[in-house]
Amino acid sequence: MHTLMVTGGAGFIGSNFVRYILHKYPNYKVVVYDKLTYAGNLDNLKDVAEDFADRYTFVHGDICDAKKVEETIRAHKVNVVLNFAAETHVDRSLFEPGSFIQTDVFGTYVLLEAVRKLGLERMVQVSTDEVYGSIEAGSSKETDPLHPSSPYSASKAGGDLMCLAYHTTWKVPVLITRGSNTFGPYQYPEKIIPLFITNALDNLPLPLYGDGLNVRDWLYVIDHCEAIDLVLHRGQPGEIYNIGAGNELTNLELTRRILRLLNKPESLIHFVEDRPGHDRRYSLDCTKIRALGWQPRHEFDSALEKTVQWYMENEWWWRKLKSGEYLEYYKKQYGERLRDTFARSTGFRAG
Ligand code: NAD
Ligand code: DAU
Repeated sequence: MHTLMVTGGAGFIGSNFVRYILHKYPNYKVVVYDKLTYAGNLDNLKDVAEDFADRYTFVHGDICDAKKVEETIRAHKVNVVLNFAAETHVDRSLFEPGSFIQTDVFGTYVLLEAVRKLGLERMVQVSTDEVYGSIEAGSSKETDPLHPSSPYSASKAGGDLMCLAYHTTWKVPVLITRGSNTFGPYQYPEKIIPLFITNALDNLPLPLYGDGLNVRDWLYVIDHCEAIDLVLHRGQPGEIYNIGAGNELTNLELTRRILRLLNKPESLIHFVEDRPGHDRRYSLDCTKIRALGWQPRHEFDSALEKTVQWYMENEWWWRKLKSGEYLEYYKKQYGERLRDTFARSTGFRAG
């Protein structure tokens, strides 16, 4: 029996991973350890709590709290930690970088210390392609230097480097995955795909940054979970694994496909001021994870269609998120700069 502690398991990818793992391994137990920030949501695990009551436990905690992390590991006899916990939204990192440094760097250090001290079997650090920075041509390899552009990606890079230092110095059995832009059910509606689907459903404008020609490589969340599962079971400690499906699209093309699936007009597209420091393109060389035996199983267009369908059928999940704190966030972030666009796209009234 393995007991996995999934930090950040109440977020988007973490909750999909927990559901996937409990279905796949009938002899595994999962402890979700999550601070429940604005992005953490027990609705994401509602079905899991019902379907796997005997093998799933939720602990409300912060990864920066060393005492609670260690107590939880001891109390539940955890053998493996998977760290999904992070502040994850680039735009938010531009106006509150401190929380990113705290969770994504210091929190990772706290987990590494616990894994080292308590002699756990493995830790998987879930990281991102953003640590390589923008790449105009070609694809980033695991051995490439890091050039993070935002406080978010710099914090993730700091966490990665701490993992590598713990492996080099103390042979802590930590592995790093660097995934590309992920999409699917339960993604908080601040990220482009769920934001644009839910805005379009309400006939609200879709705020496209800059010229809309920045490129992202899209990965369906279940493909991402399968790759992390493979790295957990078959990866080499101290190694880094890129995870990308090769679905490179400009944001404009992505937006057009979303509108087509919803049968909504392109007049909803609203070009707005660019994100400062906006990376032009990400692209990953995934030779290493493919050699380990992974390949994406979901074709992009049908996965996007399935995702659109999910948001159409699960208004109960997203409607309550697009209120309260969410509107405060837009108010703080965009205030004067994008007031008109966001007033219309969120219902927020300035002043
Ligand atoms: P998310 O924002 O949906 O969820 C993050 C979760 O972490 C939330 O449940 C939140 O409550 C929790 N959390 C935040 N701070 C915490 C703390 N201090 N202690 C405990 N829990 C805390 O994030 P996501 O999109 O699911 O991303 C998960 C991981 O995958 C992150 O590490 C992110 O960097 C990485 N990643 C995301 C993507 C993507 O496109 N979403 C792609 C590649 C990598
Ligand atoms: O690449 C992996 C990363 O993908 C993860 O590490 C991050 O946690 C995740 O948030 C995501 O980062 P991005 O910045 O790429 O995702 P986001 O959905 O915020 O933006 C995707 C692209 O769409 C980016 O080029 C900015 C653009 N965009 C985004 C929003 C929210 C818009 O044009 N308009 C928007 O309103």
